[in-house]
Amino acid sequence: MSMRLPAVVTDTAALREWRRSQVGSLGFVPTMGNLHRGHANLIERASAGNDVVAVSIFVNPLQFSPTEDFDRYPQTLEADRQLCAQLGVDIIFAPTPAALGLMARAGGDPQRTRVVPPESMTVGLCGRSRPGHFEGVTTIVMKLLNLLQPDRAYFGRKDAQQLAILQAMVRDLDLPVTIVPCSVVREPSGLALSSRNQYLRDADRERVAVLFQALQHAEAAVRDGEHDGTALTDRVRLHCATVPELDLEYVELVDPVSLAPLDRLERSGLLALAACLGSTRLIDNIVLETRSLIVIAIDGPAGAGKSTVTRAVADRLRLLYLDTGAMYRAATWLAMDAGVKLDDEAAIAKLVNDCDLDLQPQESGGCTVTMNDTDITAAIRTPEVTANVSTVAAQKAVREFLVRQQQAFGERGGLVAEGRDMCTCVFPNAEVKIFLTATPAERARRRARDLEAQGYEVDLEKLEAEIVERDRKDSTREIAPLRKAEDAVELVTDGMTIEEVIDRIIDLANDAQSA
Ligand code: PAJ
Repeated sequence: MSMRLPAVVTDTAALREWRRSQVGSLGFVPTMGNLHRGHANLIERASAGNDVVAVSIFVNPLQFSPTEDFDRYPQTLEADRQLCAQLGVDIIFAPTPAALGLMARAGGDPQRTRVVPPESMTVGLCGRSRPGHFEGVTTIVMKLLNLLQPDRAYFGRKDAQQLAILQAMVRDLDLPVTIVPCSVVREPSGLALSSRNQYLRDADRERVAVLFQALQHAEAAVRDGEHDGTALTDRVRLHCATVPELDLEYVELVDPVSLAPLDRLERSGLLALAACLGSTRLIDNIVLETRSLIVIAIDGPAGAGKSTVTRAVADRLRLLYLDTGAMYRAATWLAMDAGVKLDDEAAIAKLVNDCDLDLQPQESGGCTVTMNDTDITAAIRTPEVTANVSTVAAQKAVREFLVRQQQAFGERGGLVAEGRDMCTCVFPNAEVKIFLTATPAERARRRARDLEAQGYEVDLEKLEAEIVERDRKDSTREIAPLRKAEDAVELVTDGMTIEEVIDRIIDLANDAQSA
């Protein structure tokens, strides 16, 4: 971690010159300064995914109306610079409005070009009470992206409407940048961090924690099956009313991408609100999913039927089956597609650390695999990938990346995962942890049945001895040895049919969700 203070550049010519001198990927974090842990999280993401990191600090007059807090917006450049130094930021762009040719407030200067987001995305939520605000945001972000020309730009989900509008801008105008959304960072009380929180007194900070609690009430209602939009927003209103000092401006349920109002939650909805306490305006939101967000981790010895059971549970509960095999294939495909030598561990490490890998459950079971927004579900199943997967999968950086990625999917929730160390190492905080096992004799009988069905002759005693030996090796190996996590439920499946095992796990999942 570099503690050298990052250079502060204030004019556009110097910035362009700096940009020209940079090689490698650039991650960009636009801010209005007064940095807190929410911003720090964006910077950390940027620095993990890029060679160079730039932060802009600019209180943008275009996005403030005459009655808003532009003149008293907290400015703390020196402290911000220290924090940026700790986070390894390479450069801070902190122009004056004049340096950017911006003197006007919201509504802009009619003499200059502006970027206008679609009206359908600005009529609701914060747009209703902040006319011109989002046009101010898109115009400044467009300018900043043009000046910095980053590979990736990082935005918080805290400002969900802003994020959706900027994603639409990048899409609609084919801007050559990837927007990376980052999760909301909160106080222990649940209050979303914001530079405006410092306008609040301590007692008020406790009061406004009710906002996130209210959103969580709605989330709990969704889990109980409530999908009606009005019922959900009413629940939030009712809960917020327990703090009479709070003046709720809006609570709305909208589509997270188009921001169109939703009468009913179909698959996913953005439940967003704004409220004032005195003169301090706060916003918050939560993404509601009809899909369950539970994480179920299943481990246990080889031959206990983990993979069959896990796929079936994923299917029945409409969860993602975390196909770790597909993830290794995706990493292999990535290396092959980039044309790097498959034993060049450093090059592959860089590739995987820079990539954006995603798995999404398919309605028909199984999952769709995307790499940097390209669907590679079919491409990872070619014989060429199959032939190379073991070489790539053996590399430490690849394994570490995939575990991090699996954990990131776990944070998003809604998955079932199996593997020897899923409960102990990968998902120690899973809502449901199962150690799926059977006695060696039972596993030997099952294996014998499979082999006999394929026409092989079997020696049951020898099979059982092999299983005992394999268990011994697995539980004494140095890396991720096989052992039952203390709080995992041990499910000994001797005498149970597969259907009975699946039902038992689904019961455990339902118990966990209603707890
Ligand atoms: P600002 O409010 O400073 O926020 C900068 C970035 O930090 C935004 O992407 C915002 O969503 C993110 N952020 C703020 N608080 C957060 C939290 N608690 N958790 C996660 N992310 C958080 O948003 C702006 O500035 C401006 O509109 C800007 C985009 C810079 C354009 O002027």
